[in-house]
Amino acid sequence: MAILKIARMGHPVLLRRCDPVPDPGAPEIRRLVADMMETMADAPGVGLAAPQVFQPLRLFVFRVPGDRSGVDPDDSPVGNAVLINPELELIGDDRTLGWEGCLSIPGMRAAIPRAKRVRYRGVDCDGNVVTREVSGFHARVVQHEYDHLDGILYTMRVTDFSLFGFNEELNKAAEDAAR
Ligand code: NI
Repeated sequence: MAILKIARMGHPVLLRRCDPVPDPGAPEIRRLVADMMETMADAPGVGLAAPQVFQPLRLFVFRVPGDRSGVDPDDSPVGNAVLINPELELIGDDRTLGWEGCLSIPGMRAAIPRAKRVRYRGVDCDGNVVTREVSGFHARVVQHEYDHLDGILYTMRVTDFSLFGFNEELNKAAEDAAR
C-alpha cells in the first residue's frame, strides 16, 4: 500500500468528467482503492475521489465517523467504503446547509447546500452491488465525492461566500461568537 499525492484545486484533473471503471475487480483497481483508503486515513479525511489522486475514474472511497453521523438510522457510522461506477439520485427538493472541506482545497471550508436524502448504487471491488438510501452526513459526503467524478468542486456550489473561509479564521470566529 502507499500514500498517494493529492491533486489541489487548479489542477485540470479535478475539472473533467471521469471515465467509468471497465473492470471493478481488476488488480490495479483493488490496489488503487486500498491506496486511496490509506491516503484518506493519513490525510485525514472522510472522502477521497479517484481524480483527487490523478486517476480520472468513476470511483471514490468514504467513511462516516461516529462524531459526524446523526441520530437518523440512515446516517449511522460507516467504516471505509468504496463505490465504483456510482449512480446518485437526490430525493426531494429540500436542501440543507452544512460545512464541507476538501483534501484538494486544504485549510478551508464552506457551507454548501445539499439534498437531505439520496439514493445511491454502485459496485465494490468484488462486484457486489451496493445500494442504499441515506441522509445527513452520509448523504452529504456521497454528494461531495460524486461531484468530483463530474469535475465539480464544492467551491462551485457555494451560495453564500460569507460562509467560505480558512478553517483557522472560521474556528477563531466561532470561538469568539460562543464567548
Ligand atoms: Ni473533495
